[in-house]
Amino acid sequence: MKGKFVTIEGCEGVGKSTQLRLLKEYCETHGINAMFTREPGGCVISEKIRGVILDPQNADMSDMTELLLYCAARSQHTETVIKPALENGVTVFCDRYSDSTAAYQGYARGIDAITVEALNRAAMCGVKIDCTVFIDVPPDKGFERKGGAKQTDRLECETLEFHRKVYEGFKAIIEKEPERFLRFKADGTKYETHAQIVEALSSRGVF
Ligand code: TMP
Repeated sequence: MKGKFVTIEGCEGVGKSTQLRLLKEYCETHGINAMFTREPGGCVISEKIRGVILDPQNADMSDMTELLLYCAARSQHTETVIKPALENGVTVFCDRYSDSTAAYQGYARGIDAITVEALNRAAMCGVKIDCTVFIDVPPDKGFERKGGAKQTDRLECETLEFHRKVYEGFKAIIEKEPERFLRFKADGTKYETHAQIVEALSSRGVF
């Protein structure tokens, strides 16, 4: 692929959106040909699937249905948006991707790793992640920052215990593939974290 594919991961309330906004501004100021997208979502069909997945009224959704919907959304988004952009040399920043599936549906929901990996691989349509920015804030702190769980979507309605499992999941994923991850504690100001992220992405040849 001609363009670089960067994903951003972390638990709820860690400041991912803020960092993505700052990265977008950075790309605009520096004339970097970049695209910012998100999962689940990023195209019409996948945004519709997002609505189904996150609707708090769908409280009885089974874990396997949830996994398949995330992967369905990913497949459509990857094939129609991410892949063409990368082929055209665009740097793609994606707010969450396959590691979220491994952490949330695999580690936290408890679906076996073989199934999650196989579905993730199929949904990625042959695309490879160049590097992943992980905002490393434990859920206890993330909840605090957000002022408690807002419970506006189905996943946010989950218990703190669930989100602790997600966090442990992310850490286990990083241990398996440390070279892909850029990890940030985010304990300074948002601008300090932003500067660290820019420096790290530059050293990886993204900027
Ligand atoms: P967001 O709040 O970061 O937009 O993400 C939506 C929610 O979906 C968030 O709680 C994380 C969750 N999620 C999964 O459980 N599995 C996935 O594969 C993805 C992409 C997100």
